[in-house]
Amino acid sequence: MTATIVVQPPLAGVKPYKSLANEELHARISAVRAHFGPQLLLLGHHYQQDEVVELCDLRGDSYQLSQMAADSSACRHIAFCGVHFMAETADILANRPEKLSEREGQRVRVMLPDLAAGCSMADMAGIEQIEDAWDQLSAVIDTERLIPVTYINSAASLKAFVGRHGGIVCTSSNAKAAIDWAFSHANDGKGGDRVMFFPDQHLGRNTALGMGITNDQMPVWNPHAEELGGNTEAQLTDSKVILWRGHCSVHQMFKAEHVALFRKNHPGIKILVHPECPQEVFELADVSGSTGAIIKAVQAAPAGTKWAIGTELHLVNRLKQEHPEQEIHFLSPVMCMCATMYRIDLAHLCWTLENLAAGTPINTIEVDPETSRWSLVALERMLQVR
Ligand code: 13P
Ligand code: SF4
Repeated sequence: MTATIVVQPPLAGVKPYKSLANEELHARISAVRAHFGPQLLLLGHHYQQDEVVELCDLRGDSYQLSQMAADSSACRHIAFCGVHFMAETADILANRPEKLSEREGQRVRVMLPDLAAGCSMADMAGIEQIEDAWDQLSAVIDTERLIPVTYINSAASLKAFVGRHGGIVCTSSNAKAAIDWAFSHANDGKGGDRVMFFPDQHLGRNTALGMGITNDQMPVWNPHAEELGGNTEAQLTDSKVILWRGHCSVHQMFKAEHVALFRKNHPGIKILVHPECPQEVFELADVSGSTGAIIKAVQAAPAGTKWAIGTELHLVNRLKQEHPEQEIHFLSPVMCMCATMYRIDLAHLCWTLENLAAGTPINTIEVDPETSRWSLVALERMLQVR
């Protein structure tokens, strides 16, 4: 005999869910998942807390999650356990024109269980600031030959700007390929003279240094400076890559002295970091790469390998649990966790899913058609370069 699934009616707001025990929340969420079957997809980023990640159908880094949303076919609802820009990207990719026609116009609803789960880095590059920077730059350099590249950690409005200006989106796993593309294949094969990289200066700098571009050729644009982002005209005309002054508050906390301390106290240790870390940390590391690449490096290492890992705390703790045969340390003595991603908890997820089941959906992310259209131009380029 099969058990009957009982989906509970939604409670009034998220507050009452906060007082439920995790076991109950887990059971209520599982009931909604069973009710929708393959029509509901729970996507989770690797930085998400354990109890949420356990419930996700698919887990990945930013690139993998974009691909999952782009490829989804049976699903009609995505609950995105990540941050705002990821849910926007999922909405754009899952509802792109060919997918909509396959589904005879039916949209996939993308929900972010807590709408306050933003990304501080993405917030450092507002669209008005970008447009102002572009206007100022056009007085100094030929912006027709300046190719914008934005990290996926950015608002859809910035991705649309990049799409309109012949540019490309990248993730931490294909930033080099995206910058290469900008110099060689952008604008139908002509390529650009220079690149403007948004919003993470560290990912932009670390990647471009690896391509032989020097710091002298990479001025940083400060959107709060009076004029020319705090640069001279000569700095801008001599540039190859103009970096936006943005950073990840999590990865910026790893320091060169943390690396030195681990090397001193644990001879033979390997330092493994995300490219959102500052240059001095990135350059001292033995291995670096996107979240997905960090996981692969640990999975591939022999038992007894010693690591100090510089990326988000939840992921490092999960790696420790999943690889007891290796010695894994967190690179910083202070907690570096993504506080906004952490906002997505079982209470918010349950609240969102029970409202969906009751036909009163909440926390929906829907990017307007014009922004989606242009963002998609830049996102499709991202999915093509590796
Ligand atoms: P990846 O998932 O591309 O490694 O990026 C890490 C990150 O900061 C997500 O916001
Ligand atoms: Fe944004 Fe950093 Fe959190 Fe990633 S880890 S979502 S870049 S604040």
